Amino acid sequence: MKVEKKIRLYTDEEMDFARKEDEAFSNGFYEEKKYIMKIHPLRGLFLEVTSRCNAHCEHCGSSCGDFIPKDEISGDEIKKVLREIYDKNYNTSRIMLHVTGGEPLLRKDLFDLMKYAKALGFHWGITSNGMLIDEAMVSKMAEAKITSVSISIDGPKEIHESFRQVPGSWEKILKGIKLMQKIPSLQNLQVTTCVNKKNIDHLDEVYKVLRELGVTHWRIMEVDPIGRAKDNHDILLDPDQYVEMFNYIAKMQRENPDMDIVYGCGHFLGMDIEPVVRQRPFNCYTGVCIGCILSNGDIYVCPDVERRPEFVQGNIRKDSFTEVWETKFKPFRTMERTANEKCKKCKDWKLCMGDAFHTWDFDLNKPRFCHLENIQRYQKRVKKEDTKKAETKKTPAKKTTKKKK
Ligand SMILES: C[S@@+](CC[C@H](N)C(=O)[O-])C[C@H]1O[C@@H](n2cnc3c(N)ncnc32)[C@H](O)[C@@H]1O
Ligand code: SF4
Ligand code: SF4
Repeated sequence: MKVEKKIRLYTDEEMDFARKEDEAFSNGFYEEKKYIMKIHPLRGLFLEVTSRCNAHCEHCGSSCGDFIPKDEISGDEIKKVLREIYDKNYNTSRIMLHVTGGEPLLRKDLFDLMKYAKALGFHWGITSNGMLIDEAMVSKMAEAKITSVSISIDGPKEIHESFRQVPGSWEKILKGIKLMQKIPSLQNLQVTTCVNKKNIDHLDEVYKVLRELGVTHWRIMEVDPIGRAKDNHDILLDPDQYVEMFNYIAKMQRENPDMDIVYGCGHFLGMDIEPVVRQRPFNCYTGVCIGCILSNGDIYVCPDVERRPEFVQGNIRKDSFTEVWETKFKPFRTMERTANEKCKKCKDWKLCMGDAFHTWDFDLNKPRFCHLENIQRYQKRVKKEDTKKAETKKTPAKKTTKKKK
């Protein structure tokens, strides 16, 4: 991938304005966040409908694969929770159900469940590896009036298939995307690319495929060191590569105003970059507005938060979900939840608040990531290199005159 030396592809005035706007928004949010923590309105509910999967990706944060778990929640158990949330007068029209897995399309009753959810007023969307989408699946999606799908594509054919460890899956995915484009209710068909060492130099190839397919929503994010990726240094990006990825997103956004190319979820990047790579600066709301039901019924925070028994807040088989939502999740609903010496001293603490919980080091009580640090280090180095280059240009090397023999 061609590396841009500067992240700022916007004019200084544009950047200044965007930064101020974001800062005002985020500063306000710090105060608002205290209030939001107090009222903790449920806005996003991850439904991990299964941990079964027909792929075996090198990076899988949920360590899923081809095994049959004994304790997978039933359709009736899921319906009971949705009904309870509705009956307790939560505003279901403001709650997004993020259906995830494993591979959610492996569940035979999925669309029945989603029809039920829709009838109760929930919005819902699926993240899928796209391998099971054929004509029959698309009919079911259309019947269930699906509105939002995100399909994972992690590189051009060879890279995607080796990374996901499923030869022959690429063509199925592309065919599936073309079929889904005909679903009348589908408003948001997005492709998600998880950037890692093996595909970072091939993002342009993915872009070309998306252009050919007519996909206009592209979410780019990095592989986080969670699940199977935790210690896999063959795939985790180096500090500079993260910055190259942000440069790439910024450049692609600038060059493709007709596409929605964003940095997805993830991490706080500092106010030089936040306004360039997405609409709103990042803040982690797990356990505050975001909850999750894991495939064994455990009531959890976000599925990407390290699975630790002490974070399980209850189980839908024995506990009332809404009671748990109202009374538990205490460690996640305090402004001090990510306070640590380093972050508290940071000038961006009020904006970032210790970054994301899904990459929090719970043993050392500090974030595993500080992208801002990486970015600043990178920018400093580039500036130094530029100054050095400019100086060498100004003072051309002295000519050496040949001595006469
Ligand atoms: C856990 S998967 C479940 C849905 C589906 N099986 C799929 O792969 O799209 C949801 C999303 O998480 C992403 N993901 C998996 N492991 C990750 C990791 N270690 N870091 C960041 N994203 C990850 C996947 O690439 C996918 O886009
Ligand atoms: S990332 Fe998705 S497709 Fe890959 S193993 Fe995990 S759940 Fe399956
Ligand atoms: S030091 Fe902490 S609070 Fe500051 S930007 Fe880094 S992760 Fe965020």
